[in-house]
Amino acid sequence: MEDGHLPVLVDEVMTMLAPAPGSLQIDATLGGGGHAERILEASTPDGRLLGLDADPAAIARVGQRLGPRFGDRLVLRQANFRELAEVAPAAGFGLVDGLLFDLGLSSFQLADRDRGFGIRTGGPLDMRFDPSRGLPASELLASLDALELTALFRRYGEEPQAARIARAIVAARGSAPITTAEELSELIVRVAPGSSPGRRRIHPATRVFQALRIAVNAELDALAEALTAAVDLLRPGGRLVVLSYHSLEDRIVKRFFQAERRGCVCPPSLPVCVCGRSPRLRLVTRPSLTPSAAEIAANPRARSARLRAAERLAA
Ligand SMILES: C[S@@+](CC[C@H](N)C(=O)[O-])C[C@H]1O[C@@H](n2cnc3c(N)ncnc32)[C@H](O)[C@@H]1O
Repeated sequence: MEDGHLPVLVDEVMTMLAPAPGSLQIDATLGGGGHAERILEASTPDGRLLGLDADPAAIARVGQRLGPRFGDRLVLRQANFRELAEVAPAAGFGLVDGLLFDLGLSSFQLADRDRGFGIRTGGPLDMRFDPSRGLPASELLASLDALELTALFRRYGEEPQAARIARAIVAARGSAPITTAEELSELIVRVAPGSSPGRRRIHPATRVFQALRIAVNAELDALAEALTAAVDLLRPGGRLVVLSYHSLEDRIVKRFFQAERRGCVCPPSLPVCVCGRSPRLRLVTRPSLTPSAAEIAANPRARSARLRAAERLAA
């Protein structure tokens, strides 16, 4: 087990994937390699795992930690999972038995003050999983106008004080750019200090940080694309397991699973099916699994986790 990041719902993930010797598995979000390690152990002696992460630091860390132990049973690629349809077959994983997505960010990323993910870490406000691609969060804060920032905080953070925070950002950057996580969180605490009574107490900047991270990494688009690719890669009987950490992600997963379970995507107004699509998934978790109180006590990051799993049907 990786000390820096405890894998969430790991026993449940293992039950769902049931990785057998000789099987091929993909961990699309390698992180600290906690789930990957358990999958490789369970599929001893010859199961193979392709581990992807957009973050080159995750790939390097897991390569060092698990590479010597598992040799060529572990294949690592630095890639965004939205490229799964190309990356997996190119790595020899064209038809697989299991696929895991453990969304969001790892404890390593959260703790790294140079990445800007953590509200209290104080480093440059970057938030890119892959620091070589796209724009850092500080650029978004510098370039979007107040209306665009409001829409972003509402859409991806469901932030009730979005307009007030956006206006304060635009006013503040008139005198100096906002470049660190600390500057942003202090500004939010100043202009929108409290959550309303009765709400779960979270740091006032939590929703804005989530919104920026989702926007910077185009997380929801990537997820939607990757889920479709994942079903294409699964052999009949293969399992797709997704751990999500907030309602925006979970909604995408839930709707995708439901659509693939139904098959037909014709509008209800049509008297007969014209799309010709048949169901490709059977739901394994109905409705979903969440961590026990004991897991949450041991690993507070698991608090908001929700696991959904589905099985590929024969074509
Ligand atoms: C919650 S962590 C995974 C932890 C891992 N399951 C473990 O047990 O250590 C999520 C990881 O997914 C990666 N990630 C997030 N979005 C990604 C994407 N679109 N493509 C590839 N990797 C992504 C992040 O960089 C992060 O390392």
